[in-house]
Amino acid sequence: MGVLEGTDPAHEEANAHADRAKAPAEVPAAELGGATEQEGATAGAQAAEPWPTVTIADIKAARETLRGTALVTPMEGSRWLSAMTDQQVALKCENLQRTGSFKIRGAYLRIVNLTDEERARGVVAASAGNHAQGVALAAAVLGTRSTVFMPYGAPLPKERATRGYGAHVEFVGHTIEDALLAAREFEARTGAVLIHPFDHADIIAGQGTCGLEILEQTPDVKTVVVPTGGGGFLAGIATAVKSLRPDVTVVGVQAESAAAYPASLEAGEPVALESMMTMADGIAVGRPGDVPFTAVQAYVDEIRTVSEESLSTALLALLERAKVLVEPAGAAAVAALMDSPHDFEGPIVAVLSGGNIDPLLLMRVIRHGMAAQGRYLAVRCRIPDRPGALACLLHELSEAEANVLDVVHERTSETLPLDQVEVVLQMEMRGSTHREEMLKRLRECGYAVTVS
Ligand SMILES: Cc1ncc(COP(=O)(O)O)c(C=O)c1O
Repeated sequence: MGVLEGTDPAHEEANAHADRAKAPAEVPAAELGGATEQEGATAGAQAAEPWPTVTIADIKAARETLRGTALVTPMEGSRWLSAMTDQQVALKCENLQRTGSFKIRGAYLRIVNLTDEERARGVVAASAGNHAQGVALAAAVLGTRSTVFMPYGAPLPKERATRGYGAHVEFVGHTIEDALLAAREFEARTGAVLIHPFDHADIIAGQGTCGLEILEQTPDVKTVVVPTGGGGFLAGIATAVKSLRPDVTVVGVQAESAAAYPASLEAGEPVALESMMTMADGIAVGRPGDVPFTAVQAYVDEIRTVSEESLSTALLALLERAKVLVEPAGAAAVAALMDSPHDFEGPIVAVLSGGNIDPLLLMRVIRHGMAAQGRYLAVRCRIPDRPGALACLLHELSEAEANVLDVVHERTSETLPLDQVEVVLQMEMRGSTHREEMLKRLRECGYAVTVS
C-alpha cells in the first residue's frame, strides 16, 4: 500500500504492514473464471477484522445475479493515451453503463438481496446523483419504493434522472454526509432500508463485477486505475483483480481537495476530512467507508491524487481525443495517467466511472480545461492614444495567429499617462507554446504587456 505523499518512517511502517496484508498467501492465483475451493476464503483479511469482507466467490455470484440487468460495458483502446504513456492503454467505459455510471451494479445487488419483507418497507439512499440513479432504477426494476436524499447543488440532470426512474427526491444539507444523516433519520422513522453508497459488502461485491470484466476484456492487464470516493468501487475491483491476478497493480485516484484515503491509510483507520472542495461530485466523500477501507488496505497498491486542473484537462482530452464524454469524477483515472504518463506498467486499464454531467458544468469545465491547457490568454497592454495604435497591436496579434475574443479600452486608470490608453485583451491560443511565442513577439515589438 502506498500513498504518494508519505515518505516518513511512520508512513513506511504503515506501508510495510499493508504490504504484508496484501501478500497473496491466502489469495488463490486462480485462472480467470476457474473457480477454486479457496475462493470462499476471505483473502487478505485480518483475523480480528470486525467488518464484513467480500470474497471473489461473492463477486462471481454477483455477476450471475446482475446478468441482464447491468451491461457488460465496452473496453476501448486509446491510441492517444497509449502514445503518451508508451504503454497500451484501454478505457473501461462505465460511463456507458445503465444510468450513466457503475452504480447500478452495487445498488441492484444490495436491493435484490433484501428479504421480501425488507423490500416491502422501501429503500432510502443518500447521494449526489449517481448512486441515486442506481438505487432508483434498481428499486423500480424490483418493484420497491425508493426515497433519495441529495445535497443541495447536486447536478440537475442527476436529480431529473433519479425522479425519472421513480424515486422520491428530497434535498438536504450541502455534503453527502449531510444527506446520509437525513437518510439514516428517515430509515429510523419509517423502517425503509438504507442503501449505503459504498459501505456495504453487497455494494462492494456488485461493483467488483467490473473488475471481472476488466480481467476478461484485457487478460494481459498489468495496472488498473480507478476513480475513488468512499472506496466501494475501488474495493470491489481490487478484490476481484487481486484475488485472480495478484501481479496486477491496482491504483485508486482521488481529487486532491477531497482525498480522505491517503491520511486514513497512514492512520490505519478511516479519518474524516475537515473540508473538501472539488468539481468531481461523484468522488467528493469526506471519509472512507469502513467496509471498503479494509479491502483497500488489503489489496490496493497506491492511492494518487489529482488537481482540479488535471481533472478538467483530462475530461477535455477525453472529449477531444477519444470522443468520450465523462463527468469530472469519471476522468480521475485518466487525469492520473496524464499527470505521470510513465509511472505505470502496461497494459493499463483506466476506468471511466461515470458520464453524468450537467451541461452547464460541462461548459465551465471545458473553459477551465482550455485555460489549464494554455488555450486562453488575457493581457493588459499600454499603447499610444492615437489613431491607428490599436490597429497596429491587432495586426501583430493576427500575425501571431491569436484569435481575439474581447477587447476593452481603458482610459480612466490613475497611473495612466495622458497620451496612453490601456487595452485589455482576451484571446484564444493554440496552447502554452503559442502563448509564450505571442508574448515574446509583442514584447519584441516594444509593447509593455502584463498577463492578467
Ligand atoms: C462517477 C463516479 N466515480 C467514482 C465514484 C466513487 O465510488 P466510491 O464512492 O465507491 O469510491 C463515484 C461514486 O459516486 C461516482 O459517481
